[in-house]
Parts: sequence; structure tokens; C-alpha cells
Amino acid sequence: MIAFASRTGNVRYIVSRLQLPAIEIADDVKLTQPFLLFTYTDGLGDVPRIVKEFMERCGAYCQGVIVSGNSNFGHRVFGAAGDALARQWQVPLVRKIDLRGFAEDYEAIRRYYEHGFREERVG
Ligand SMILES: Cc1cc2nc3c(=O)[nH]c(=O)nc-3n(C[C@H](O)[C@H](O)[C@H](O)COP(=O)(O)O)c2cc1C
Repeated sequence: MIAFASRTGNVRYIVSRLQLPAIEIADDVKLTQPFLLFTYTDGLGDVPRIVKEFMERCGAYCQGVIVSGNSNFGHRVFGAAGDALARQWQVPLVRKIDLRGFAEDYEAIRRYYEHGFREERVG
């Protein structure tokens, strides 16, 4: 399962291309099964509020983080929400994607999902 947050549609677009099981994060969404988190970056390298709160509810089941950002924000804060979440929750940063990314980004996510990420490992 991929749990994703998307404000302007980039993450939503990528998720739709991946054709993997996915759920959009909302205030009432709670998962009790392993998932990959896919978020955008807010502020100056910040984790979006909705994602922060979702992780407070469900972070124990998170198996990895994918982040979309905009490299025009500069190296220090590009996709920094992903770095912060991976550090805080001690999970791999699977991929940092510039905006909607490229085919190779989608392949890397699919590879991780199919080979690295095993739903049955936890729970
Ligand atoms: C207000 C605002 C702040 C942002 N801050 C950052 C940032 O600090 N670092 C970064 O890499 N991208 C930043 N971005 C870019 C978004 O993370 C990026 O466009 C992402 O692809 C958006 O995903 P979404 O379309 O699924 O919401 C920011 C975008 C907005 C609108």
C-alpha cells in the first residue's frame, strides 16, 4: 500500500501512473498495515501538516518514504521533507523526485515496492 499526500497534483499523478495499491491521506485515514509514504515538500523543506499528523497515527507501519519536491528551491531544502521523515522514523528514503519525475523514478519505486517492500513482513 502507498499512502500519499498531494496538494497540487504531482504526487497524485505519479501514484496514478504506478498502478499500485494506494490511499490518499486525509484527517480520518488510519492504516494498520505496512505502507510506503509518498509526500510532497512544503514550506522550506517542511513536512506537510497532514502528513505529520498521519505519521503520528500510523508511523509505526511505515516501511519507507518517497518524496517529491522542486529542485529550484535549492539543494538544502530540495525534498527535505523526505529526509526529515526517513530520519525521524528510521526508514529508507526510497526516492527523491523532482516534481513529477521521470520513468526511471517510477521504475525505482516499483522495484522497491515489488522486491524490497514486503507487506507480510510486519503485522
Ligand atoms: C508553498 C510551497 C512550498 C514548497 N516548498 C518546497 C521546499 O521547501 N522544497 C522542495 O523541494 N519543494 C517545495 N515545494 C514544491 C513541492 O513540494 C513540489 O512542487 C511537489 O511536487 C508538489 O507535490 P504535489 O503537486 O503532489 O502537491 C513547495 C511548493 C509550495 C507550493
